[in-house]
Amino acid sequence: MCGIFGYVGKDNRAAQIVLEGLKTLEYRGYDSWGIASKIKNKQSLSLRDEKLKMKNSDKKNKFIVEKYIGKIENGISQLSPFSSQLVIGHTRWATHGGVTIANAHPHLDCTQKIAVVHNGIVENFEELREELIKKGHLFISETDTEVIPHLIEEYGKKQGFASSVRDAFNRLDGLNAIVAANSKSCEIIAAKTGSPLIIGIGENEFFIASDATGIIKHTRQVLFLKDLEMVILGKKLQLLSLPNGKKLTFKPEIIKWKTQDVSRGMYRHFMLKEIYEQPKAIRNITKNYGDQINHLVQIIEAAKGTFLIGAGTAFHACLAGTYLFSKIAHIHVNTAVASEFNYLEDFLNKKSLVIALSQSGETIDVVEPLKRAKEKGSKIIAITNVLGSTIYRMADYKMLLGAGPEKAVASTKAYVAKLVVLLMLSFKMVGKSKEIKAAMAKVADEVERLLEKENIEKIKKIASFLSSAVHIYSIGRGVSYSTALEAALKIKEVSYIHTEGLAGGELKHGTIALISKGTPCIVFTPNDQTHEAMISNATEIRSRGGVIIGISSKNSSVFDYWIEVRDIGEASVIPQIVPAQLLAYYLAVEKGYDPDKPRNLAKSVTVK
Ligand code: F6R
Repeated sequence: MCGIFGYVGKDNRAAQIVLEGLKTLEYRGYDSWGIASKIKNKQSLSLRDEKLKMKNSDKKNKFIVEKYIGKIENGISQLSPFSSQLVIGHTRWATHGGVTIANAHPHLDCTQKIAVVHNGIVENFEELREELIKKGHLFISETDTEVIPHLIEEYGKKQGFASSVRDAFNRLDGLNAIVAANSKSCEIIAAKTGSPLIIGIGENEFFIASDATGIIKHTRQVLFLKDLEMVILGKKLQLLSLPNGKKLTFKPEIIKWKTQDVSRGMYRHFMLKEIYEQPKAIRNITKNYGDQINHLVQIIEAAKGTFLIGAGTAFHACLAGTYLFSKIAHIHVNTAVASEFNYLEDFLNKKSLVIALSQSGETIDVVEPLKRAKEKGSKIIAITNVLGSTIYRMADYKMLLGAGPEKAVASTKAYVAKLVVLLMLSFKMVGKSKEIKAAMAKVADEVERLLEKENIEKIKKIASFLSSAVHIYSIGRGVSYSTALEAALKIKEVSYIHTEGLAGGELKHGTIALISKGTPCIVFTPNDQTHEAMISNATEIRSRGGVIIGISSKNSSVFDYWIEVRDIGEASVIPQIVPAQLLAYYLAVEKGYDPDKPRNLAKSVTVK
């Protein structure tokens, strides 16, 4: 939620570097964006923008701020190349204050020599703002963020920049990550109690960003800033404890992603690329995760009470997990939407195990209940896609998903990767490691088949039929109930068509009242114990005028459209979701929407 990118160092192309970095982070927020640059001299302003030049010509040592509403993809800086030395930038997902230029970050203090970008919510900003206004500070936005540069300025009247940032940050309530730049001292200081910040360590240069994707082009040496830490980036890097200001030692880590993993390559959108990367992810996890699975199985077997938690798509994977653990391993695990687990955790104790599923490893709705579980002494397993993420770090046992970076807001390959892990765990618990390997090989092949041209053409036709729908329903039973929920989420979030997922048996308890002539309904009908009942449900819908899109291993006379997904036993839960992902993608394209950046959404949800 909100993307941050900053640069300080030897390269005079700082503004260009930050803009490029911000573009890689746009999935985190795309309401508006901005950069604050310290420039070498006023000639650095490009002739392209005389207005900007006039406005800024008297500003020795002051930040030049450029802000825009909308997406950053074609954004350019008005600064001449080779003119900026220290730049911080931000792409916004609005919380406090509407989407306006004034509310876009960076925000400045009264002297315009301190610039701040921020991720999180300053819960006590009203009280701080009032205090600062009384002291004569001038505010120009409605944001909570703007109190931060003014607070730093206020503390700076009596002490240096680093102590001022520390004192200011320690006054903020809530979970926050800030990056403050000082044009006079030519330093960037970052501090956090929530939201990710990663420092890239180059030669005489430093980068700071909300994730590593924009950094790896410049350096692979990174430091994950932990909560309650503060970093000073200038001529050198210093790490300090936020509570007491003491110096901390650090050991950089090396990021191994390839640059092509974080670019769209030949694909029009990241969402499509990521759907196509699923066979590779399935094969990678099956081949390389055996030892980690064995270890996690021992922990699950030792626990007294296991809970799977996640948000959105990750929750759907958790729900699938409860069915798979029950059916394959005959063990009971509970599941809860992570944001609700806060209110269900009274029964946690030292023997409990909480398994958190999260692509980003940063979702606040997952982080919060995990903190409470930890306080109660419960053990935590994190299954996440991002090395060094908050959830990864706070867990007692961790496993990386191995799906590779996921950039599209709508999660696809990370969902499939979670299902692979859950299936491997369930099979391993009953000693069926060989069977799962064989099943996963078939799953990868089947997903590949579903991505072939012939099937894509069929999906496009169905998407074209669905594009005029106002409501779509999606139903399944057993583990396919989770598939039905996930299919509905995928379709609604990128196509904006109201899509409701529900258990097949629930339809007749109310929602069937909404079925009328032409209402499309996606029916998951795998070759398992749910098959007959699902065909009956489809028949009930069809006799009320509904149009049935059957996702099944065998055709049926009740289907108006049939998408074949071959039977691979319990592992069919993986290929079954692929047609729905593709339908969602092609629906968005058909309707002219950007599937990578659906409105109002952000990839990593770090605010409540
Ligand atoms: C939907 C989607 C979201 C995420 C949810 C949790 O396509 O991507 O529902 O699944 O925000 O995110 P993570 O997995 O990062 O915790």
